[in-house]
Amino acid sequence: MAASSDPGFTERPGSGFGPVLRRARLGLSRPEDMALVAAAAAGGDVPDYQLSAWLMAVAIKGLDEACTVALTRAMAASGGTPAVHPGLVDKHSTGGVGDKTTLVVAPLVASLGVPVAKMSGRGLGHTGGTLDKLESIPGFNVHLPRAELARVVAEVGVAVGAQSEDLAPADGRLYALRDVTETVDSRPLIASSIMAKKLAGGSPAILLDVKVGRGAFMTDLTDARALARLMLHIAHAESRRAEALLTDMDQPLGYAVGNAIEVNEARATLMGEGPPDFECLVLAVAARMLALAGRPDNAEQVVRQQLASGRAFRQFLAWIRAQGGDDELMARGPLPLAPVRNELPAPASGVVESVDPLAAAQAALRLGAGRRRKEDPVDHAVGVRVLVKVGQSVTAGEPLAEIYAQTAHDSEEARELILEGIKIGAGASPRPIVLEHLTE
Ligand code: URA
Repeated sequence: MAASSDPGFTERPGSGFGPVLRRARLGLSRPEDMALVAAAAAGGDVPDYQLSAWLMAVAIKGLDEACTVALTRAMAASGGTPAVHPGLVDKHSTGGVGDKTTLVVAPLVASLGVPVAKMSGRGLGHTGGTLDKLESIPGFNVHLPRAELARVVAEVGVAVGAQSEDLAPADGRLYALRDVTETVDSRPLIASSIMAKKLAGGSPAILLDVKVGRGAFMTDLTDARALARLMLHIAHAESRRAEALLTDMDQPLGYAVGNAIEVNEARATLMGEGPPDFECLVLAVAARMLALAGRPDNAEQVVRQQLASGRAFRQFLAWIRAQGGDDELMARGPLPLAPVRNELPAPASGVVESVDPLAAAQAALRLGAGRRRKEDPVDHAVGVRVLVKVGQSVTAGEPLAEIYAQTAHDSEEARELILEGIKIGAGASPRPIVLEHLTE
């Protein structure tokens, strides 16, 4: 409904951002408002408090599909008109706990001759961010302007960077504000944030990993499907090939939750020693990326063999070197972790009925692995490894988790949080890691 024809809305005189805010508050945003929002987020003249008010209005009132598409386009173009680069492939996850998938699939797919250029994010809400994880590798530079990103892709076939002045800067600011204003789990805000980065990144083919469960922003399948369909609609409206996998996030992905500790798990996976659930997801995501890039034949088998061959690990080291990271350190062994290491023993024998990913995320946050305010530093060395999965039998005293903390006090608090999240009982069966595959 047009704002001026709504009986509850009076067009009051006002300039600048005021009318955009007022319409958002009433749920009457117009597609043309979205260019103003993206410009405000990318420029410096609209203060954080006004943008935060707009985000809260949208989180409560929503945005219709036309506005969401318009917002995405405007955010994608906020650093310059996006160009499509044939041959590239990209992926994005909606965010989960222990989600280090990019660290493995990007070099894996690139090692098969399909270049990957990806813009990633930092920790958001309770979820970790690929950029924070990559920065735990000494020297690794995620701040690559558009031209530099393209140079690294041309050199080693894979590059992952942050928003920059010329790569969807509007998302950079809105993302950081959402993280600290309880406005993360909004469907149009998630869809526009992810798809703006994907459009600006220039890949004609995009695989979306939409997480579902207690550790995801979408806790049930219906909401996750709606988010996936919205993102696919945006991709197709912009003539990009895209598919979505709906994947389980009712327990942490793999074992590790943190930053360096997740890089270490990604490294182990690239060496063929990853946790089975994580490896299963990696293979599914990489196979669909390969298929989207025009290589559908036996894609699962091809990526499985490639992972086993060690070539993806060599590609990982070449990528780290190309972005300034210490590849020799990574080649020698895992990254060092925080000095206080404790185990959490099982209080009873039985079968693991649930492992709350939010509890693991809260524990990692409590240790310092994430941010409470947007300017907070991240401690790359702390984290947890939750060693058990739903359906697994455990014996009293066997370790359920390992905690890497800076102090004994932090470790104790993290231990309590993790313990509360693990239920041991008589029996339970886990969900499969890939729940659905959507193409439209
Ligand atoms: N990842 C993003 O890039 N943005 C979101 O809003 C959520 C996950």
